[in-house]
Amino acid sequence: MKLDLKQLELFIDAEQINTQAVEALKANVALHRGTGAGNDFLGWVDLPKNIETSELNAIKEIAEEFRQKLDVVVVIGIGGSYLGAKAVLEALSHTFDHLQTERENPIVLFAGQNIGEDYLSELLDVLNNKEFGVVVISKSGTTTEPAIAFRVLKKELEDRKGVDEASKRIVAVTDRSKGALRQLSEQTDYRTFAIEDNIGGRYSVLTAVGLLPIAIAGFDIDRLLDGARQMHQQTNTEQRFDENIAAQYAVARNLLYQQGKKIEIMVNYNPKLQYFAEWWKQLFGESEGKENKGIFPANVNFTSDLHSMGQYIQEGERNLFETTISVQQTERSLQIPSDEANLDKLNYLAGKQMDEVNKMAELGTILAHNDGNVPNIRIEIDKIDAFSIGELIYFYEKACGISGYLLGVNPFDQPGVEAYKKNMFALLGKAGFEKEREALLKRI
Ligand code: PA5
Repeated sequence: MKLDLKQLELFIDAEQINTQAVEALKANVALHRGTGAGNDFLGWVDLPKNIETSELNAIKEIAEEFRQKLDVVVVIGIGGSYLGAKAVLEALSHTFDHLQTERENPIVLFAGQNIGEDYLSELLDVLNNKEFGVVVISKSGTTTEPAIAFRVLKKELEDRKGVDEASKRIVAVTDRSKGALRQLSEQTDYRTFAIEDNIGGRYSVLTAVGLLPIAIAGFDIDRLLDGARQMHQQTNTEQRFDENIAAQYAVARNLLYQQGKKIEIMVNYNPKLQYFAEWWKQLFGESEGKENKGIFPANVNFTSDLHSMGQYIQEGERNLFETTISVQQTERSLQIPSDEANLDKLNYLAGKQMDEVNKMAELGTILAHNDGNVPNIRIEIDKIDAFSIGELIYFYEKACGISGYLLGVNPFDQPGVEAYKKNMFALLGKAGFEKEREALLKRI
C-alpha cells in the first residue's frame, strides 16, 4: 500500500508537511503509550497483534457451524456495530452474490441499521422458507434500532423453530458484563463474544464485531488480520515520519483543512469499495466532528458520480479535497471487443482491458480536479483482497487517531450522538423524559 501526495504540490509543499512531522509522531506515540485524550479507548491500537488465538478459533467454529446449517445469517447492529462488517463483505464478495445459486456460504444480510418498517418487513419476506440465524451486535446492548430488529427476528425464529433451537441459532456480541443484551444472553444461553471496554464501536471491526460476520460469509479473517498487522508494523513508534504513511496522511489532511478545505471526499473507481467509504465516514466523522471543528467526510463512486457530483467537484465551492483509493489490479479480466460497424467509434479501445479505461478516467479526473483547485491524495492498493482491506482498515484507524490529536479533539468519544436519542425517547413518551417531551411539543 502506498500514499501518493504528488497532486498536493500546488497546495502544500513537502516542507510544510515535514514541519508537522514532530507533532504527528508525538500523536502516534500518545496512541501507543496511552497518554492522550480518550486513552481509555485505545484497545484497537495493538489489537492486530494481541487478538487471541482462542478468540479466533471460537469465531471460526461458530462461523463453520452456521455455514453448514444456515441459508441466511442476519447480522443486527448499527454504526460501529455494522459498518465494518458491511464494508468488508461488500469489498470481498461477488458483486451479485445474492443471485448466485451455487453457494458454499450463507447469505449475510443486515438489520437494525435503520428503523425502516418496510425494510424489516421485506427482510421477513425473504427469510420465509429459509433456514436462518442471527448475530446480534451491540456494545451497549441498549441501542434502540438493533434492539427493535432483534425483538422482531428473535420472535420470528422462536415461532418457527421453538425457543431451544432459536437460542442455538443466535449469537450475541456485546459488553462482557453489562447491558440488556448480556443479561438476555445469560438468561437464554446464547453463545456470546465480548467487546472490551477499551474498544469503541467505530474501532471494533477487527474484533468479533466484524470478524464473526466476515468469517460466516466465508472470508479469510487471518489474512485480514495479517494485513492489519502489517500496517501496525509500518506505523509503529519505531518508524520515521517518512516511513509512516498514516502520519503523513493525517498531516496532509490537517494542512488542507487549515487552508479552508473542509470537506474530504473519498473516491473509488471500483464499486466494491462503496461501503468501505461508509465505514470511513463514520470513523472520521464521529472522531473529529466536535467542538465546532472537523473535516466533513463525504464519498463518491466514480465514474458513476462523475456524471452527477463531478460538476460540483470541478466547479462548485472550492472547499473540497479528494482522497482516491486506487486499486492496481482487478480480480477479473474483460477485454473490449472490436465491432465491424464501429458506430460507437470505440474501436480505438478494442482489445484493451476495461480497467485500462478506468485507470485513464482516474488519472484524467485527478488532473482535471487538480486544475479545478481540488487537491488530491492517492492511496494505492495492489488489489481488493482480505490482506489489503486489513491494511486499509488499520491505516485509517491509525490515521484517524493521529489526525484527531493534531486537530486538538478527543477522537474516541461521540457526545453529539446522544442528542437525537433524547428527543426520540421524549417524543415516543419513554418514562423519565417527561420534561423534555413537554419542551419539544411546544416547539412543533
Ligand atoms: O461508534 C460508535 O460508538 C457508535 O457508532 C456505535 O457503534 C453505535 O451507536 C452502536 O452502538 P452499540 O454497539 O452500543 O449498539
